[in-house]
Amino acid sequence: MIIKDAHFVSSNTKFDKLPKDNIPEYAFIGRSNVGKSSLINALVQRRGLAKTSSTPGKTIAINHFMINNSWYLVDLPGYGYAQRSKKMREEWRVTLANYISRRRNLLYTFVLVDSRIEPQNSDIGFMEWLGENQVPFCIVFTKADKLSNSELNRNVEAYKNRLMEDWEELPPLFVTSSESKLGREEILDFIEKQNLELEKYLKTNGL
Ligand code: GTP
Ligand code: MG
Repeated sequence: MIIKDAHFVSSNTKFDKLPKDNIPEYAFIGRSNVGKSSLINALVQRRGLAKTSSTPGKTIAINHFMINNSWYLVDLPGYGYAQRSKKMREEWRVTLANYISRRRNLLYTFVLVDSRIEPQNSDIGFMEWLGENQVPFCIVFTKADKLSNSELNRNVEAYKNRLMEDWEELPPLFVTSSESKLGREEILDFIEKQNLELEKYLKTNGL
């Protein structure tokens, strides 16, 4: 897919203030600092569109970006960021849970995990929750450029084995680097396919 246009739409902390839910959207979530905002920028090739930082907790709202005037990419705050107050973390947990389980036009949630580290309970638990709530998701391994190919393969295989303990079938998996753009085309092709399928479904059902 060719990205002709990508622009910021809105930054919200309240579910009922989100943009109208009439076009497909794809959300990026994962622990703080995993590389969500960087990946969004790499996908659309616009450095600085989503705010990135080496300090965890940069993204603190639900940020919508309009792509090619036809679908949204959504940058979410990292979970598990301990520096915030307990009350704030609880508020966020509720907002995110609401967003992910109730947002009608959210076609897929991309769960980002750092390819360098072993499966974390917070990520595995979050994926379980997505499964229980029947939320379609993909797993995206980030920062692949920081590993050798053999380390990367070993870690991805270990992650798959861990997932197979809980799941009968693996979700779509992507190995990415925002530095080298590894995985960029694959993710964009996946999104394009979802958009086309939705369009077809709406057409055949006269919607
Ligand atoms: P929060 O918004 O705080 O939850 O973080 P985030 O998940 O959006 O992470 P962000 O994109 O801000 O990246 C965090 C740090 O990791 C930054 O210093 C990035 O430059 C770095 N980073 C992100 N992706 C990559 C990657 O693919 N390769 C390398 N080498 N560094 C990366
Ligand atoms: Mg961010």
